[in-house]
Amino acid sequence: MKILGVNAVFHDPSAALVIDGQTVAAAEEERFSRRKHGKRPVPFAAWELPEQAMRWCLTRAGLRVEDLDAVGYSFDPALCLPAEHLGLSDPWDHLRRTYAERAPWFLAEALPGLDPDDVHFVPHHVAHAASAGLAAPGPSSACLVLDGRGERASHLAGHHREGRLEVLAAQQLPHSLGLLYEGLTEHLGFLRSSDEYKVMALASYGIPRHLDDFRSLIRTTPDGGFVTEQIDWSRYAPRVAGEQGGPTLGRAHADLAAGVQRRLEEVLIELATWVHERTGEQMLTMAGGTALNCVANTAIARRTRFDQVWVQPAAGDAGTALGAALRLTTVLPDPFEGGSAATPPRPMTTAALGRDWSDEELADHLRSAHVPFATQADLDALADEVAGALAADDVVAWFQGRSAFGPRALGCRSLLAHPGAQHNLERLNAIKGREQFRPVAPLVLLDRAADIFDGPIPSPYMLFVHDVQPAWRSRIPAVVHVDGTARIQTVDPAAQPVLAAVLQRFEELTGLPALVNTSLNTAGRPMVDSPRDALELFGSAPVDLLVMGPHLVRRSDLFAESGHAGRRTEQRTVAALEPTR
Ligand SMILES: [Fe+2]
Repeated sequence: MKILGVNAVFHDPSAALVIDGQTVAAAEEERFSRRKHGKRPVPFAAWELPEQAMRWCLTRAGLRVEDLDAVGYSFDPALCLPAEHLGLSDPWDHLRRTYAERAPWFLAEALPGLDPDDVHFVPHHVAHAASAGLAAPGPSSACLVLDGRGERASHLAGHHREGRLEVLAAQQLPHSLGLLYEGLTEHLGFLRSSDEYKVMALASYGIPRHLDDFRSLIRTTPDGGFVTEQIDWSRYAPRVAGEQGGPTLGRAHADLAAGVQRRLEEVLIELATWVHERTGEQMLTMAGGTALNCVANTAIARRTRFDQVWVQPAAGDAGTALGAALRLTTVLPDPFEGGSAATPPRPMTTAALGRDWSDEELADHLRSAHVPFATQADLDALADEVAGALAADDVVAWFQGRSAFGPRALGCRSLLAHPGAQHNLERLNAIKGREQFRPVAPLVLLDRAADIFDGPIPSPYMLFVHDVQPAWRSRIPAVVHVDGTARIQTVDPAAQPVLAAVLQRFEELTGLPALVNTSLNTAGRPMVDSPRDALELFGSAPVDLLVMGPHLVRRSDLFAESGHAGRRTEQRTVAALEPTR
């Protein structure tokens, strides 16, 4: 069966395509539209669809709209309740239901040829749960979904067995750990539904001195749910007005963040323990925006009885597109199997599910931009050249293969640098225009990770934090956060041979089997996806070397030849404008 999944209602609009249980494509609309998070998460924008991502998914697989068996939409308007029944104050919340009810017709408009009757609503948290439980390795798992909100709930605890989901608990709104954290994010002057990870980073600088308060205000209940009382954040630290002036972040804000973060970890451990006791499963699968809190994920991995915690790399709402498609794979009758036996989903083995370009197409982009470049087709020679630049403390923009689904830079579109140079933290934050309290993370060879980092290994999706072994902290200071941790990505040579070759050569040159890895973008912009995006970043940020596939562009060469390139452009333009006779 060919199933397109669509996420549109709240934020991070995205699309995913699952064919016969195999995920073949998944992408966020922001990577095409170049608008961070695709749209603002307001009710008025709920109708907007990930049109470019949807069309690309079909093109990628060579499908026509008519070839689709079904479209899964990760929100079920039939589950909606009036905002006042949910304890919400948004007078426009009803628009989400209105637009979602009409989504089949919006989709048919965006995808001519689609029969609106082929669109199926998948409850928001069921879609999140499917993106974890049906994508994870293994036939069964306990499942925990936590986010700001779905139709009427903010949480789901369940049990996945043989493709079936049994819902064990669902916390109804207004109680929401995600909305609570979003509220704190806004109070601290950051953008809600976007910058929650900054609060997590800030928490490392504080002392959880108000923890007792938060233990009474945020608490679990015996039925597997929880209570979140309304909290007056101003009691603990003054509101930060962001760019409009007013109080700036200080000790009180860090302490507030630390207290809420610590309480969140405690509550998640209690919720995970509850679902472990109900299911007896060895593996916990997680999704929902709260599951992007890698500090809390690590606390769950360390302090519960689960042997393994698997988190969907696109744990935020983008992942519900994939989840909706996977869910339909298990519940819709397969027309080619007599209408009964659906194809079971196959585990997700990579997050590299987005766009890619051939080596020749990449070269064409560079030529058309009049950018001088060298091509190194030999893998060892390419690794040698890139590792040499990194060892000489160059910053490298790295563009290889398919782009990654989800918010993390996973070695597909990354900025790489020397982890032994302390100044690279400040340097990269400056290049990206980020706050200086934000850490950058390391890539590390899979077979060397346990020597340096203590925590869940392998960690291919950057969803956990690890303690850096004391002996290594002074050797890789750029990637060690203030609390002695690092959010690592392990690199398996079988999955990412080019990146692994660079890491291996870099270790030969420096003795360090790790590199600084941060997303290839500048502040407020989505991650680079296309060659054009990469060239725009390279043209505007002080990056020394751009590596696109086997092609290398050095900034020094760019400046040396830019005058010639400019003249050539001018001559061509004039020639093109001459009238033909
Ligand atoms: Fe969600």
